[in-house]
Amino acid sequence: MENDMKSILVADDEFSIRRNVADLLSPLGYQISVAKDGIEAIEKFRRESPQLVILDINMPHKTGMEVLVEIKKINKEVPVIMFTAFGNSERAIQAMKSGAYDYIEKPFDIDEFILIVTRALQFGSLLSELKQLRSAADSSQIRSTENDFIGKSPKMQEIFKLIGRVAPTNATVLIQGESGTGKELVADAIQRHSMLYDKPYVKINCGAISESLLESEIFGHEKGSFTGAFTQRKGLFEIADGGTVYLDEINSMPQSLQVKLLRVLQKQAFFRVGGDIPVTANVRIIASSNKDVKAEVDSGKFREDLYYRLNVVSINVPPLRERISDIYLLVEHFIAKFSPENKVIVPRETLNKLKKYNWPGNVRELENAIHSAIVTASNNVLNIENLSNDNQQEKEQVDYLNMVERGMSFKDVVNSVEKKIIFEALKKFDNNQSKAAEYLKMNRRLLYSRLKEWM
Ligand SMILES: Nc1ncnc2c1ncn2[C@@H]1O[C@H](COP(=O)(O)OP(=O)(O)OP(=O)(O)O)[C@@H](O)[C@H]1O
Ligand SMILES: [Mg+2]
Repeated sequence: MENDMKSILVADDEFSIRRNVADLLSPLGYQISVAKDGIEAIEKFRRESPQLVILDINMPHKTGMEVLVEIKKINKEVPVIMFTAFGNSERAIQAMKSGAYDYIEKPFDIDEFILIVTRALQFGSLLSELKQLRSAADSSQIRSTENDFIGKSPKMQEIFKLIGRVAPTNATVLIQGESGTGKELVADAIQRHSMLYDKPYVKINCGAISESLLESEIFGHEKGSFTGAFTQRKGLFEIADGGTVYLDEINSMPQSLQVKLLRVLQKQAFFRVGGDIPVTANVRIIASSNKDVKAEVDSGKFREDLYYRLNVVSINVPPLRERISDIYLLVEHFIAKFSPENKVIVPRETLNKLKKYNWPGNVRELENAIHSAIVTASNNVLNIENLSNDNQQEKEQVDYLNMVERGMSFKDVVNSVEKKIIFEALKKFDNNQSKAAEYLKMNRRLLYSRLKEWM
């Protein structure tokens, strides 16, 4: 009986945490051993060979991250759970990357804590899965911090964990999510935490340029392959050789290029435009889409074989309205970004308003709202107005008939309404015309031509 008892080492500099954890876990039949700092933790780990370690990140003498790294050198297979104080993506990713099994934020929820501990212990005995974890833990380098990727909601925490697991593997990743949810930040974090972090990182927006230009951008061209191709030019895949390519808006990639991309994924080779010698490029691909790519496959717009090639790992970034618990942190983050003196006060009503709003433009819209509120504020109190589809009924009613009475023609009135709608959409999407057009469900070309008329 005694011998079967699983032992857990808990290292935390706070006495109350050590005691609470022991009080929680001892009755469940675990043998608990405690350490009050990093050095003691390593000593006890060597001496007692526990089945599970729970480590606080902030400890005197040696930080939890340092202890984690050392423990993993001694025995990789023992799962480690980290205690973190705050929704900090870098630390979370870092910890997962260095081989932590999971992390728990303090103050923690008791049921969730016990669940994670139980799972970690089960996991510890599943060697096969451990192997997978080991490969992630092997990349020893710890990257410099960049704390611009915020989120403490359970959904974002899951995403940080996934990034930590998948980053060092070089697997192709498909990131999906509504516009403005942070897909590019996910891609950047994967690249930053991958083994290719110091290799080229090239981003291509597949929706922003015409088909023929896109093809020569990506694959390059030979001299004379089309009018204007005066010299041979390397494509972005060649430039990125040995590194990472981020294919943004992959769903808008034309079918002909989808075939070419598929060949790159299968054979790591392609032809430049107008070329007949295969060029090799060994790149890790991270693709993103603000549409459901599977649905695009079902409606025949996207190649199924390419979809399966891209979707080796898929990360779905949730819309902001499904993680309102992140709003406060994000607001603080953007205030610090746009007002470095950071004297802005966020009144409760403003915060409530932000939490109630449904954020169709997601984090980007929140960022823009905070930015304009700070720029236009006359005091230090954050006051958010004019959220686009908030409180429709409270919005000022435009008197169209009065406009006609004042001498405008019917056509002019309609035109002014159209202009207002289009400019509001452009504002929402940082003047990105294709995104504004998509949001308005209008043809991109129509939007361009309307804009031209008004310029
Ligand atoms: N979790 C986050 N923490 C901090 N900033 C964020 C977060 N998510 C998004 N942002 C900010 O919001 C803006 C939009 O993010 P990003 O460009 O990554 O979105 P996206 O999903 O790629 O959008 P799109 O589909 O429109 O290209 C950026 O300025 C980004 O810095
Ligand atoms: Mg993007």
